[in-house]
Amino acid sequence: MATQRLTVIGIGYLGATHAACMAELGFEVLGLDVDSDRIARLAAGDLPFYEPGLEQVLRRNLDNGRLRFTTSYEEVAAFGDVHFLCVGTPQKAGDYAADLAYVDAAISTLAPLLTRDCLVVGKSTVPVGTAARLAQLLDGTGAELAWNPEFLREGYAVHDTLHPDRIVLGIASERAEKIMREVYASQIAQGIPFITADYPTAELVKVAANAFLATKISFINAMAEVCEATGADVTKLSEALSHDDRIGAKFLRPGLGFGGGCLPKDIRAFMARADELGVDQALSFLREVDAINIRRRIRMVDLARELLGGSFKDRTVGVLGAAFKPNSDDVRDSPALDVAAAIGMQGGTVTVYDPKAMSNARKVHPTLTFGESALAAAKDSHVVLLLTEWAEFCDMDPYALGSVVAERNIVDGRNALDPERWRAAEWTYRALGRH
Ligand SMILES: NC(=O)c1ccc[n+]([C@@H]2O[C@H](COP(=O)([O-])OP(=O)(O)OC[C@H]3O[C@@H](n4cnc5c(N)ncnc54)[C@H](O)[C@@H]3O)[C@@H](O)[C@H]2O)c1
Repeated sequence: MATQRLTVIGIGYLGATHAACMAELGFEVLGLDVDSDRIARLAAGDLPFYEPGLEQVLRRNLDNGRLRFTTSYEEVAAFGDVHFLCVGTPQKAGDYAADLAYVDAAISTLAPLLTRDCLVVGKSTVPVGTAARLAQLLDGTGAELAWNPEFLREGYAVHDTLHPDRIVLGIASERAEKIMREVYASQIAQGIPFITADYPTAELVKVAANAFLATKISFINAMAEVCEATGADVTKLSEALSHDDRIGAKFLRPGLGFGGGCLPKDIRAFMARADELGVDQALSFLREVDAINIRRRIRMVDLARELLGGSFKDRTVGVLGAAFKPNSDDVRDSPALDVAAAIGMQGGTVTVYDPKAMSNARKVHPTLTFGESALAAAKDSHVVLLLTEWAEFCDMDPYALGSVVAERNIVDGRNALDPERWRAAEWTYRALGRH
């Protein structure tokens, strides 16, 4: 039976998921955000973003009274035994480094209000060395700091929170470990590895994991560049590589590359931190990982232009996908939207459709045109681009789509379609990394 009272500070993708799932596990949870509109929506059971299954968990726990929301730090300080810190750490404008202003503001606001023993647990992704600095801000408050990096994947966030691959905890005392073993007792009982370490190791696990994943994606996309120059087929290459279980199939899918609110900014912040620490050479390969990733977006635009005979002028382009990946409405650093915007800048008439990310995409790119369905976005287009591999796009009927377009040209930016099926329906099919 849960005894601890938890608070979650910063109710974005991570914080909303964490708050709702910890309530689902039986804890009393109080969530705080500085955005009062967001808090009002959450308190009414309205999730301000799309995440499969999360709204049901949110509503269930609002209804049973275990989950509440506030904008008051005073209320949070008085309520919590354990305070989870889930605020954003975006890339600084004009710099590779992470912007720690939100983390600093949250701790600085909370610390003077704390009047009893408690644990503050950072979950935000931060540069190595941050936890040691923040711990000093809690000196003399009766609170102690732990760092518990988060590995959830958007689109699978509820599952990943309730059944994570591993729990990593940076601690400075046995007391902190004991409290966190109680908080994560149900996950530990499932046999999920619980790894304790010092602060810097725990912070590094998160950024090292993201650096590895980004490297694996860019590795196969670098192979795609070589395939394009040689006539080889990167999808076959990837399939053959993946049977080697030292390599594996995950994150080895060639395509338009990674985006979102984590991988791009995390590898850049990691490079910036390595620079400060005088070990920039150790991470110089991440510069190439980032460059390969960005080149895929450029290649996608070039492929579409080539199919149209060298210019987007007076040409209509149907774009399928705006989210950075399927099962999410997150458009932060979205490869799909980058490609759509670049084609618009080059004179193409672009219409975008995404099953869940339309409203976020409109906010970021108000000048793009949006269609209400895949067929509406593709209507009268000279080329269709598949840029986010939503299931509804992968399952599309090439004949139905063929009946609305001006010309049957498709570029599969995610290697998600069966080329034979599309060619049989008289489409000119092109994809990244194969002919
Ligand atoms: N989104 C993910 O899938 C994911 C996964 C693992 C780790 N992370 C990390 O978690 C952190 C949060 O990411 P996110 O995607 O949830 O960001 P987000 O932008 O969706 O949410 C951040 C929230 O923090 C709030 N906030 C800002 N300053 C605040 C303050 N002083 N007090 C209280 N609330 C404040 C914002 O209003 C916002 O609602 C980042 O460090 C990110 O790298 C995210």
